[in-house]
Amino acid sequence: MSQWIEDEKKYLFQNYGRQPIVITRGEGSFVWDENEKQYLDFLGGLAVTSLGHTHPAVTAAIDEQSKKLVHTSNLYYTTPMITLAKNLVQLSGLDRVLFCNSGAEAVETAIKLARRWGHDLGNGAYEIISAEDGFHGRSLGALAATGTARYREPFEPLPIGFHHVAWGNIEEIKQKTTAETVAILLEPIQGEGGVNMPPSGYLQEVRDWCNKNNLLLIIDEIQTGIGRTGKLFAHEYENIQPDIMCLAKGLASGLPIGAVLARDDIALHLIPGDHGTTFGGNPVACAAANAVIETLTEGNVLEEVPVLSEEMFKQLESLADRKSIVNEVRGRGLMIAVEFDKDIAADVVNECRELGLLLNNVRPNTVRFLPPLTITKEEIQQACQILEKSIEKVTV
Ligand SMILES: Cc1ncc(COP(=O)(O)O)c(C=O)c1O
Repeated sequence: MSQWIEDEKKYLFQNYGRQPIVITRGEGSFVWDENEKQYLDFLGGLAVTSLGHTHPAVTAAIDEQSKKLVHTSNLYYTTPMITLAKNLVQLSGLDRVLFCNSGAEAVETAIKLARRWGHDLGNGAYEIISAEDGFHGRSLGALAATGTARYREPFEPLPIGFHHVAWGNIEEIKQKTTAETVAILLEPIQGEGGVNMPPSGYLQEVRDWCNKNNLLLIIDEIQTGIGRTGKLFAHEYENIQPDIMCLAKGLASGLPIGAVLARDDIALHLIPGDHGTTFGGNPVACAAANAVIETLTEGNVLEEVPVLSEEMFKQLESLADRKSIVNEVRGRGLMIAVEFDKDIAADVVNECRELGLLLNNVRPNTVRFLPPLTITKEEIQQACQILEKSIEKVTV
């Protein structure tokens, strides 16, 4: 075993099930391990390296900003943060942005914002309805909202006021809504839960229910946002507008950043002293995010995502025709899952890694692809060939 892996096992908390390779560098759609073995990266740091590794625009922005100012705190104004907020407001149709450092923090902030709004305008309403199989992060509030019982139970008691309903079931949302309900929190496509698409019209019905009952609709675009599904935000496919939106992961293509966006009449309920974080709006992270936004909106990266997605679906569906163990190919844009009719996902992931392809398993029978938005058709073909070989090896 590598000395690095031995040292990790000795010196770090053992809270991750890491795959046994030490990654030392990356470029475009590829990473290399300490032995210079090359891998096609179809996991993208868990939907983070949206423009691939060391994209020239992102690297240049980081380089330039890091020579000017790396950090100063939210006691002062800084320009990359203000530029990024302006960019996000213009692209989202929401009015204001609060920056933080991760997805869980963005969700935590959205929960506090909804509670603050309920405190001021909603007769103290504070309860939040979210979906089973939904994932919103590991901090206590975000965990309470997360719909997978096995993540929550070892940490109970969690903050009160969270209810979970079956994904896609509007009737259950209606039944669980009470005078205490302040918001509904959903992913537009469930990522960690297995790349679960929303039933047609579901999010529109949720939006209507929120409008009718004066509830806030919080959309968690942490995994689906920033072009992942072929539109800047996945909720655009559903013709809905959230009241609050959470972003993180792909926003800075690799640097830690989170953001919460909201309408003016909601955002302005947080007043000085209510909420904050030392690193939020970090100049280097924001400069990287500005480079990502510029590359996505001014180049043709976003336009290409549906074309690349079609290629992936074509390849994977033809694989499904050849391999009866493949049950379903689902997803949107470059967020795609392959479900098997047996629990072979972990073995397939291991075999793929041996053959030079990184991906992960989101369920015992489901693997997930989150390649960079800059992936090429040739790389997609290569990945699908490796997947096929891996399935063959695992199922002999
Ligand atoms: C939809 C969604 N929300 C929130 C989170 C939490 O983000 P982070 O790991 O940055 O805290 C994740 C992470 O996978 C996610 O997929």
